[in-house]
Amino acid sequence: MKGRILIVDDEKDMLALLRRIITGKTEHDVMTESDPLRAIEMIHREPFNLIITDLKMPKMDGIALLEEIKRIQPSSDVIIMTAYATIETAVEATRKGAFDYIAKPFRKERILLTLRRALDWQALARENVALRQSLEQQKAFPSIVGSSLAMMSILSRIKQVAKSMATILIQGESGTGKEVVAKAIHAYSDRRDKPLVTIDCTAIPEQIIESELFGHKKGAFTGAWNDKKGLVEEANKGTLFLDEVGELNTVMQAKLLRLLQEGEYKPVGGLNTRDADIRFVAATNHDLRQRIGEKKFREDLFYRLNVICFRLPALRERREDIPLLVHHFVEKYSKLNNRDIRDIEPKAMSMLMAREWPGNVRQLENVIERGVILCQSDRIRLEDLMPERTDSRPLPYFNEAIYGLPFREAKEAVIKAFHREYIQGVLQQNRGNISRAADQAGVQRQYLHRIMKHEKIDAEEFKKHVT
Ligand SMILES: Nc1ncnc2c1ncn2[C@@H]1O[C@H](COP(=O)(O)OP(=O)(O)OP(=O)(O)O)[C@@H](O)[C@H]1O
Ligand SMILES: [Mg+2]
Repeated sequence: MKGRILIVDDEKDMLALLRRIITGKTEHDVMTESDPLRAIEMIHREPFNLIITDLKMPKMDGIALLEEIKRIQPSSDVIIMTAYATIETAVEATRKGAFDYIAKPFRKERILLTLRRALDWQALARENVALRQSLEQQKAFPSIVGSSLAMMSILSRIKQVAKSMATILIQGESGTGKEVVAKAIHAYSDRRDKPLVTIDCTAIPEQIIESELFGHKKGAFTGAWNDKKGLVEEANKGTLFLDEVGELNTVMQAKLLRLLQEGEYKPVGGLNTRDADIRFVAATNHDLRQRIGEKKFREDLFYRLNVICFRLPALRERREDIPLLVHHFVEKYSKLNNRDIRDIEPKAMSMLMAREWPGNVRQLENVIERGVILCQSDRIRLEDLMPERTDSRPLPYFNEAIYGLPFREAKEAVIKAFHREYIQGVLQQNRGNISRAADQAGVQRQYLHRIMKHEKIDAEEFKKHVT
């Protein structure tokens, strides 16, 4: 570590000598000052890691200077040099907080050693503080696993903003933990005893989303037999989590904007507006700016939502968190499945750390869940994590249940299942090589890629990992 060092001694020769010794052997920045009063001014102005001072100086002695330094910059260490080394001065100096004292004349090595010990000690103390802070943060948010810098800064921002009323937009690829963060924000806010209501904007059909959100009055439309409470009313005094907000249609976007701006809404078929006291958190895996450009998302709504923005890192941007996450999920699924699995073989862990994770934490979680189930001992092996073979299976989705669905839904379900089945099959045959799989299927590579992304199929799973 490169440190900043100030040397104070009324003898200019001594200053020059020390500077030569230190800069000759180390990279540290060295400043010198012969007047202790001017040294104090410097210490007021800028931080030093270490101050080496003489004991006897005409204007102020080294002990008084030490006391002054401990008052202004308690984290700086002080080394006292003296030609009058007596046990008493040494004791007094250390009692007042000096790191060490050195008797003059000294050997070059003695100075350098003390200096290194002081700076090493400081680095260690700093690391400890950082570690303690990160442990405290992890304790505050037990549901969020990760100790990478990126996750640490997310945790500290959650703490910072949770208690405010500011609307929060969480952006991040699929499976990066947007919902986990939304829940942590609510749990850390003063609204934690009130409800957190989630509305998944993709899951509710467009025709009924308004009544789901705002409720309706009896007779508002055919089938509205009774008054119905909306999610907004349920979330009153609590938090409303608008998941996948990028999927809202433009009509609903306008109504949502009004709710955000005025704090009021009208149930479907109602005449009067109602007030809402709600904290909003929204999430999306779309690039909303791009959707604004495509005229699919209102710019004014975007700015309303984006008061505070969280961008969750993809798993590939924080690979160092993979071991922690793996152990977390092994424990979770081992407990859930009544198994006693404690470990994962190193080969398996390296594969997990090396591969791509287009489905991020969710995909990692699925792989581990399957691994726990397939595992035959108390240790997960590489083979337990390999995808199952898709060889000549019948079409499992085409069973009795399909006749219970309306035609359109049945068709969509079958097409979706077919996509998965077919694409996994070709990828399997081509060992995860997307270009070759696309050739074989007679489609464009980009097209195949798009469906894979949509279906969260990862080509890596089909590459041979076993050596
Ligand atoms: N940091 C994390 N620590 C522990 N588990 C996590 C973490 N991030 C995500 N998960 C787990 O991964 C899964 C996906 O997380 P979540 O649903 O929050 O992702 P998402 O970003 O909302 O995904 P999507 O865009 O697909 O809705 C969940 O089971 C969640 O518990
Ligand atoms: Mg989600």
